[in-house]
Parts: sequence; C-alpha cells; structure tokens
Amino acid sequence: MAEWCADHLRSCAAWKEAGLELSTTSDENAKLLDGAIRQLVSWSDCTVLGGFHETLVGMTAADPDGIMSRTFIVALTGLGTEAAARDPTFAESMDKLEKDAEQYGNTREKRHVRAAVLWGRGKHHEAADEWDRIIDDYPTDLMAVKFSHDAHFFNGNCVGKKNAVEKVINKWDKDLPCYSYLHGMYAFGLEECGLYGDAEKEADLALSLNRFDCWASHAKAHVLEMNGRHKEGKEFMYKTEDDWRQGWMIATHNYWHTALFHIEIAEYEPALEIFDREVANRFNRSHSLLDMVDASSLLWRLELEGVKVGKERWRKIENLGKYIDNHAIVFNDVHMGVALYRQEELETERKLRESLEKYSSLHSEDNCQISKLIGLPLYDGMLNYARSEYDSAAETMFPIRDKVVQIGGSHAQRDVFVQTLIQSCIMSKDQKNWSLTPQLLIERETMKHDSQLGQRLAEKFRRMHPL
Ligand SMILES: [Fe+2]
Repeated sequence: MAEWCADHLRSCAAWKEAGLELSTTSDENAKLLDGAIRQLVSWSDCTVLGGFHETLVGMTAADPDGIMSRTFIVALTGLGTEAAARDPTFAESMDKLEKDAEQYGNTREKRHVRAAVLWGRGKHHEAADEWDRIIDDYPTDLMAVKFSHDAHFFNGNCVGKKNAVEKVINKWDKDLPCYSYLHGMYAFGLEECGLYGDAEKEADLALSLNRFDCWASHAKAHVLEMNGRHKEGKEFMYKTEDDWRQGWMIATHNYWHTALFHIEIAEYEPALEIFDREVANRFNRSHSLLDMVDASSLLWRLELEGVKVGKERWRKIENLGKYIDNHAIVFNDVHMGVALYRQEELETERKLRESLEKYSSLHSEDNCQISKLIGLPLYDGMLNYARSEYDSAAETMFPIRDKVVQIGGSHAQRDVFVQTLIQSCIMSKDQKNWSLTPQLLIERETMKHDSQLGQRLAEKFRRMHPL
C-alpha cells in the first residue's frame, strides 16, 4: 500500500479532535488502530507499518487493555468467519471486552463493543443495525462504515450494504485518508442492488482517485460479470492485475473473478491455471475460509461445465476437517461439504452434515435458523447433485431458490447454486422437474444479462428435451 497509509496516523488527541475519542491513553495504540483500519479498508499491507498482522500485534502490545483496538480484533475475527460464538477462546475475549467497556469505555466505544459482540455471538442482523446507528451519529467513523458494509454482505442485505456508504459519502472531507475507498465500497453496494450503470461510474471514479483500490476493481469486475461483458472483464482484470493483486486480502477472490470471465466464454484451461497458480496456493498459505469458498466454487463451476478437474485438485483444499464445527455462516459449510465429497473424504463430510444439523436445531444465533430453513436444503441439494441424484437435487433446491440470498455472499457467488439447480433440472428424469428449466433460465438472465454460459445451458436443455 502507498506510504500515505502511515502518514498522519491519529494520536489520542487527533482522534478526539476528529470527534471520535478513544479511552486509551496510548498514542501508539491509537495510531496503530488507525493504521489497521486503513489497511483493512484497502485490503492491503502497509509496508511502512510492517503489514496488517504486525500492525495488530503492535497495537495490542501498546495497550493490551485498549477497548477500541480489542473491539476491532473481535469484529474482524467474527466477520472473517474464522470463529463463532461457540469457540471458547473467542467467547472469553468477548466477555472480557464487554465487562471492561462497561467499566472504562466511552459512549461510542460501548456501542462498537455491542455491535462486535452481537456479531460474534451470532446476532448478525442486530449487529448490522448497531453499526448503522453508529454511522448515523459518527459519519466519519470508518471502522463502523467498513464493518456495517461487511455485515450486510454476510447478511445478504444488498440495500443495507449500499446505504451504509451512501449516507456518509457526502459528509466526508475529500482530504480525509481513505476517502476514495468509500467510492469503491459504494460501487459494490450499488452493483449488488442491480444499479450497474451507477456502480460502474463509482468504481471508475474510485480507481481514478487510487488505481490500487482493489475493492473498486472488484466492484467493477462484478458489474462486467453481471452485464455479460466477459471478454472486457477478462481484459480489465489482466490489464490491472499489478494494481489489484497487491491487496492480498482480496486477491484470491479477484483471481476467482478473473477465472469466472474465462469460464463464461468457455475458456477452461486458463481458469484451471488460475486455480493451480493462484487460488489453491493462496488458500494453502492463508487457510482462510473465504479463500476456501473461492477454491471450492471455482472447481465446482468447472465441473458443471463438464471439465474433469480431478480429485487431486479438490484435495488441494486441504485440512477442512478442522472447520466442520465452525458454522459461522452456512455459506461456508455448503462450499466445504461439496469439496469434502469430491475429495472422497466421505466420513468427514458426513460429520460436517451431522454437526450442521445439530447446530441448526439451536435458536441462539441468526445463522441457526438460516441454516435450518435454507442452508441444510441447499447443502443436501448440492450433495444430491454431486451424487448424480438430479431429481432429488432439483426438488430440494427449487423451493428455496428465492431465499438463498439470506445465506449471504454476492449474486455472482450465489450463481453457483443457480447453475447447479438449472443443471439438476435439465438432467432430471421427471418432467415436473425438467420442465422448470426455461423459467429458471429466464430468472438467471434477468439478473445476469447476456450470459454465454446461460446460452449453453439453454442449448443443453433443448438437446436433452427436444420439443
Ligand atoms: Fe466478488
């Protein structure tokens, strides 16, 4: 990231002057918190600060009891879907933070703690509401804007994601650090609301202000994907690759988008190369569940197109067994289930399914209900497809297709479920299932214009079910 990240980091006095007072008395803690927020918003390491992880270490060392810095880490852990309420260490850190904030946190900090802890304990919608209310009172509170934007993403709330940025963007002084990143965030919110023209303008503006804004590149990729501009999308990603790949926190996902452009225009070899060279390797370094989702989704999409990716590629998504009781979001579980099945790790897959079902019967977290009503049928439908049980897959997934948005992610990410349902219907034996295909193709085309992949699905349907 450019050096500006480390410039003019706010001391305790500067945070107060900005109307965002902190209770810590450590200037180092306050400054590194600022640096951590800036790096997270830019999805990049600041080399001057030694990178994101070093910044977090330094920030904590400077004041291990700092309320806002600990809140940042709790929210980051929760929103990164790496830990959930049932993780004892995470639960303990939340309990202590809550107690300490009550004793010596200021009003804004207490509200941040409430939001972060709500998210961590699985109250995802209440958490997003709390971050939104903080933004209403503190429009330049970038930490609240970023966490609200992310929370709405995981909640499948397109409008919330757009509004979190829309309501503050005109209240910011253009000279404030990270101002340009608001345009990239806004672009993604607009895109998810289907406002593709406005989204592209915002993404282009963000990139004209800062070509290294990899979230703006990502938003532009979404616009090009949803508008069927796949060749242009592929060219855009390669032309700007040196700019966006610096944002390592989102680089795997941006490579995944590049592969999607290839798949849409039936260029499967380059998509496989991207998996081998970038996606699999990056997952093996990060072991991030967000990278796991991209890896699983990419191989599954290639298989849907008839590409034999091979078990060895699936096995590159390794060590999934340690995540089977995580259940931070069911979006992850579904991607993990198909990967385990394709790896022929059938016992681990069975344990994941059992654990998810047990978890779904709880009522303490938003994700329990979503898992029960949408996640489990979706999981079963995807696994039915994997077992070539196409009628069962179609019958399981068709009734929930309008609700899948609630498991979170983007339209482009959830298209993997849409494609699987359409393929299931096409290959069903029962006419009541295969006759649903034309309707589903129209629904997909409405969201995702001029899709060559959609045309190939329509041709396959006509081939298999001639009039
Ligand atoms: Fe994306």
